[in-house]
Amino acid sequence: MFMPTRRPPLCIPNMSVNHPPPRHGCIYRSSREGPFLRESDGRVFNAQNDVYYLPADDVEFDRLALQHRIHYHILGSLYPGGDLVDRILAPEWGVEKAVLDVGCGACHWAVEMALKFPHVHVIGVDLAPRTNIPEQPPNLRLEFDDANLGFPHYHGCFDVIHCRSIVTVGIHDRDQFFQEMERCLRPGGIIIVIDGEMPTLNHNRQRIPPAPMDGNYPQTRGWMARIMFEASQDFAARGASPIFYDIAGVLFQSLVATGAFFNPVIQLMYLPLGPWPVGNTEAETRWIQQLGEMMRQNGLEFTRSLRPTLKHRGFSDEDVDKMLFGAEREMLDLSVWMYTRWVYIYAVKPR
Ligand SMILES: C[S@@+](CC[C@H](N)C(=O)[O-])C[C@H]1O[C@@H](n2cnc3c(N)ncnc32)[C@H](O)[C@@H]1O
Repeated sequence: MFMPTRRPPLCIPNMSVNHPPPRHGCIYRSSREGPFLRESDGRVFNAQNDVYYLPADDVEFDRLALQHRIHYHILGSLYPGGDLVDRILAPEWGVEKAVLDVGCGACHWAVEMALKFPHVHVIGVDLAPRTNIPEQPPNLRLEFDDANLGFPHYHGCFDVIHCRSIVTVGIHDRDQFFQEMERCLRPGGIIIVIDGEMPTLNHNRQRIPPAPMDGNYPQTRGWMARIMFEASQDFAARGASPIFYDIAGVLFQSLVATGAFFNPVIQLMYLPLGPWPVGNTEAETRWIQQLGEMMRQNGLEFTRSLRPTLKHRGFSDEDVDKMLFGAEREMLDLSVWMYTRWVYIYAVKPR
């Protein structure tokens, strides 16, 4: 079980229309001011826990917008298991449907779900969600909360639970987290998990050795790999659970260990960090190179977001500059062909 002591979550309802009341006691806030954010190295971070150490500011929200487009480009949809989600969320007489987006971040997914399913309540929960969303849909509510504390007030409440890029970076006990998400799902509900592995892979999909710190670009390569290695060490030291290998197997095991998800469906993807791969047809090449370009832009911004993490690891500004310079060059001049491995999983809770 999760820790019994917890603060009540803080909710940001959309006040423009009559919103359904929360199912538990909430303190309502209309802004992100207050004890939720703090500054470091010129960036803004959540102040609720020390486990998650990526920024929560407009620059990061723009990066998350791009990452959202990347997933849409890959899936051609807002979620894997498309028909299933559509059927689960189809309107039913006398039944209120609800979606939870855990670690909703800049809320792109939550907003689009709320627009696509106007009859469904969408709840976005995050340590520091974006709250200045223009025209927040009336059926979307945001909450400040820490998923590591569990959501006992939400047991049996949701038809769809979406966990994208949170499990490996913000959760300290994956098994406990999935058990809790299973309790929050209604029978027949679906959990969707999307996440990436930390190591950088070469074009043969083998791990790239991190560059030695006494090297320099272009004499030594592997700077992106070095940054990802150092960041994952820092995430792990903070109590998060980054995944270093076999992300599909690790997440599959955790889901199955709940005893409720018997057959998680998995799609493993190798996403290029740059427009270097060539497909079998022109259309395939166009698709994969568009993806590679978006991943490169995302990678460039992501590595910059890691500056405070790298400094927290004990590196000087000079060393961080050297790593960032090397990683940027590797992505910009395509001197290293890189992939990162991502997984898309969904599983249904039996009725
Ligand atoms: C990489 S972002 C992904 C955001 C969004 N899911 C997306 O895919 O665009 C991870 C988000 O998870 C949130 N997060 C991390 N740990 C969390 C926790 N323990 N509880 C709630 N949110 C958390 C962060 O604040 C951040 O907004």
